[in-house]
Amino acid sequence: MGIPADQLIGMIEAAGDKPPAGDPLDRFFQTSYDFPAEGDRIHRRYRGMVETHASRFHDPELSIARAPGRVNLIGEHTDYNGLPVFPMAVNRDMAAVFAPRRDRTVVIANTQQEFGERSFDIQENIAPYATGDWGNYCKAAVQGLLDFYRKKRRPANKLCGFQATIDGDIPIAAGMSSSSALVVLCALIFLASNRLDLQSDADRRLELADLLAAAERYVGTQGGGMDQAISLMGKAGHAVRIDFFPLATRPAPLPESCAVVVANSTVSAAKSTEALDKYNRRPIECRLAAAVLKRIFSRHYDREVPISLLGDLKQEKLAIAEPEIWEIADKALHEEPYTLEEIAGVLGQSAEKTAALYCKRRDGSIFPEPADRFKLRQRYRHVVEEGRRVERSVQALEAGDVAGFGQLMNRSHESCRDLYEISTPELDRLVTIAREAGAVGSRLTGAGFGGCTVSLVEKQKVEPFIRQVMQNYYREYLGREDRGFDDLIFPCRAAGGAALFAAP
Ligand code: GLA
Repeated sequence: MGIPADQLIGMIEAAGDKPPAGDPLDRFFQTSYDFPAEGDRIHRRYRGMVETHASRFHDPELSIARAPGRVNLIGEHTDYNGLPVFPMAVNRDMAAVFAPRRDRTVVIANTQQEFGERSFDIQENIAPYATGDWGNYCKAAVQGLLDFYRKKRRPANKLCGFQATIDGDIPIAAGMSSSSALVVLCALIFLASNRLDLQSDADRRLELADLLAAAERYVGTQGGGMDQAISLMGKAGHAVRIDFFPLATRPAPLPESCAVVVANSTVSAAKSTEALDKYNRRPIECRLAAAVLKRIFSRHYDREVPISLLGDLKQEKLAIAEPEIWEIADKALHEEPYTLEEIAGVLGQSAEKTAALYCKRRDGSIFPEPADRFKLRQRYRHVVEEGRRVERSVQALEAGDVAGFGQLMNRSHESCRDLYEISTPELDRLVTIAREAGAVGSRLTGAGFGGCTVSLVEKQKVEPFIRQVMQNYYREYLGREDRGFDDLIFPCRAAGGAALFAAP
């Protein structure tokens, strides 16, 4: 399967520069990158991968794949609550050249030295590497697909491994989803290597996205489904509204007049290591808030009211008029943070049972009550208000109301800071500086606790904007003296979703 390495280099060199011709490799490049603007860089990257691969492995034929990172424009921590998000896939990705193996071993190498080679065997239960190891994202994808195909009577011993050389240009631990892009990439490679198709049309991609969202929990984070879905369903020039349970996507064109600029706070936000408990605390608090609301609604209506997620608080689901829902919900939760004991009291069960039902980590241990207790009302308010902001943002964008969209981004940041408490002083500073430098709207993006901000900036102001943020944030606030910050602050283009070029 694939194309001989030297021929592939020649084809890559020629690809993308001509108008789209229906040639699958051309299509791969044209939907993924901005030609001719990015041509040289992209050719260099792929040539580098092919050469690195050829020097390590001896595959007569190679295929290529890519999975983009994303920037979330608005809708933070709403996905696992069943409320929408509004991200775009970006022209930065995890890409690979690869070939299937005859045995059941997976070997992944990386063009970046710091990510050492990893290899593991395909078996029913693949044990993870140490927490935070980059190889775990590949294991997560393979394990997820093994579980899926086992149910379809295709057991692990009927599937082959692969060897791949990976190159990523998504900033790591920066809230741009480098980890989910790696999961999606490895899934595409594993599928192609076994001639399995779960990606060739939108319905299959949605199924794959759902499967991979669950699969990524292998690394311990209790994340939602946004990152895998946008990596698979991105559309060039568009942001994509994503709804959950069931997963559905709707692209909306981005305004011609504006650019999306990402700025890295340089505070690392590795949600599979340092930020793991900080991240996981939020879904736990949301589940507890939903459980308390369910109890209070059920008591009020003297029937079982079906609330298992905060996103269930809607008329169609509960058969209760919207104003009534908000009246009851707003009174149900108090400002004062809750002890586990109090929550257990409301639910009418022991603290142990409550913890076992709602506060479990992946390894089975119990997430302890935080020193500042469970902030149910604050988390609930952020989630439902953020869900409404997403709806209004999509409408604003569709109506060409860029200023309105920017305002909603600003409100979202405040809510992430004050109610969901996922910002940091650096992110707050960066957002303020971005607004002073002329951003129409600016907010933290992704899980939070560090990472990047996203700003909407009028196209003709992008250069002075970037210069001013470099001066005021990187030089003055962070006191950095190095010159170029091009890898820390850059405009992003909305790119197409993950792509595969595997010639038969
Ligand atoms: C991480 C998770 C996503 C989502 C965001 C916050 O990126 O992987 O599912 O919850 O945080 O919006």
